Amino acid sequence: MDKRIEIVEGDITKLHVDAIVNAANNSLLGGGGVDGAIHRAAGPKLLAECRTLKGCKTGEAKITKGYNLHAEYVIHTVGPVWHGGNANEDELLSKCYKNSFRIAMENGVHSIAFPAISTGAYLFPFERASKIACNVTNELLKNELFLEKIFFVFFSSKDFLSFTKIAEQYF
Ligand code: AR6
Repeated sequence: MDKRIEIVEGDITKLHVDAIVNAANNSLLGGGGVDGAIHRAAGPKLLAECRTLKGCKTGEAKITKGYNLHAEYVIHTVGPVWHGGNANEDELLSKCYKNSFRIAMENGVHSIAFPAISTGAYLFPFERASKIACNVTNELLKNELFLEKIFFVFFSSKDFLSFTKIAEQYF
């Protein structure tokens, strides 16, 4: 396994990294799941900054400060809702990872943590999403020396174990 990859079971809001990625919705005004957890941990100033961003398109990403989080930044990205696999879901999820990495590097981020974007409320199949996450990250790591640590964070041990198995084929 590439030393820059770290797979973690736990709560992404607790991590000491430069940036955590939020699996947000198009409004960027908060929600349930990891989005709700990030807003609760960051405090109300996060929502105030999000209001100034005027939403975010699916597959794109926007950055804010991390406020009460340990992380300096939150990168908000909007994953696709799963509609069966023929609605450009793979491409859009891939864009979430690519755009999050791009914004991270533009902002001097050296360590970043991702949740399993789209695999909760948005119902993207977990294994398929994991392969996309690994594929984009693997391509990036081939040419990119700027990022020192990339964390993939899973709330359940089932997801943690499943991702670990898939990741071994990529890194
Ligand atoms: N740390 C790490 N992972 C978490 C945490 C946490 N604190 N909490 C949940 N997860 P979801 P989506 C996992 O539904 O599918 C929101 O309402 C969770 O177990 O948070 O992209 C937004 O506002 C799952 O594996 O994101 C949107 O409306 C993964 O995070 C919508 O949900 C993603 O699940 C986005 O849906």
